[in-house]
Amino acid sequence: KFQKKKIVSLIAAVSMAFASSSVLAKNFKMAIGDAAGGTQWELGTTFSQLLDEKTNGQVKVDLFPNGQLGNEQDTVNNAAIGLLDFSILAINNVTPFSPTVGLLTMPYVIQSADEAKLLTQGEVGQELIDNTIRDAGVRIIGWAYSGFRVLTNSKRPVASPEDLKGLVIRVPRNEIMIASYQAWGVNPTPMAWSETFTGLQQGVVDGQDNPYITVYAMKFDEVQKYVTNIRYIFSLEPLIVSESVFQQQSPEMQANILAAGKEATEHSFTYLQDTEDKIRKDLESKGMVFTDPANGEKEWIEKVTKTVWPKFYTSIGGKEKLDETLKLLGR
Ligand code: MLT
Repeated sequence: KFQKKKIVSLIAAVSMAFASSSVLAKNFKMAIGDAAGGTQWELGTTFSQLLDEKTNGQVKVDLFPNGQLGNEQDTVNNAAIGLLDFSILAINNVTPFSPTVGLLTMPYVIQSADEAKLLTQGEVGQELIDNTIRDAGVRIIGWAYSGFRVLTNSKRPVASPEDLKGLVIRVPRNEIMIASYQAWGVNPTPMAWSETFTGLQQGVVDGQDNPYITVYAMKFDEVQKYVTNIRYIFSLEPLIVSESVFQQQSPEMQANILAAGKEATEHSFTYLQDTEDKIRKDLESKGMVFTDPANGEKEWIEKVTKTVWPKFYTSIGGKEKLDETLKLLGR
């Protein structure tokens, strides 16, 4: 009888030790769609360092770049069901799950990094965060500011939408972006981000669009030559946390997560200002050829604002949403 009692108390002691160690040290997992070295990586590493500091080393975030934990759209699903803690991905890959964030990828709405900041950090951003919790089960807690998505291709300089004829362009599985290329006269090929480098390398597709920093981090200069400096979408890349994981945290931990997200966002904004020009020059020195859009981008702009905007009024929450946003931006 004495032996049995001893064994029971030994088991209790061991399980308490396990329980307390898991309370003390926590490891979260973060998926990152891009390769290490870009704006997503910068946001993720900054966030993880800040959370470590705020929790006196009790919380670690393990980062898995380059789509190791699945393609960007899959990470939204995985976070929604609590299989994944954090993910950093492009906003265009959140839109299929939370249509109102399409407001941020409506072509030619955001025209500068400051405008991107104003929309994400103000009331508009807060409403989109609330909608995304409701519609997609994930909470946006930070943003990477990545710059305009420029068009790259392996075949020839492109200055006007006409020049796109005959080129196979990869786009994310995003209705607004698909419609934009259709308005420019071509049928783009939707492809997951994690398959894009190989698609370009093997010539399944000739081109794609993403910011300079992303092109650089992904080494697209090895498989792409021509860059067109269009400014149709300013790339915003949210840091999301699974809402169910977030709700399981103590109020103190939730506050730490939100504060780390906010500070990492500030850092991301500065990082873009400090590095974008340098990276553009690096791409040039690696042999990429840059072309400005013809006629001050007039045809590019007209074709999409006339036809693409009206198609998506309903999904972004009504025409008045876009009108209010344009008014806020002083247009
Ligand atoms: C995409 O093109 O699918 C994304 O914008 C890529 C990214 O997250 O950098």
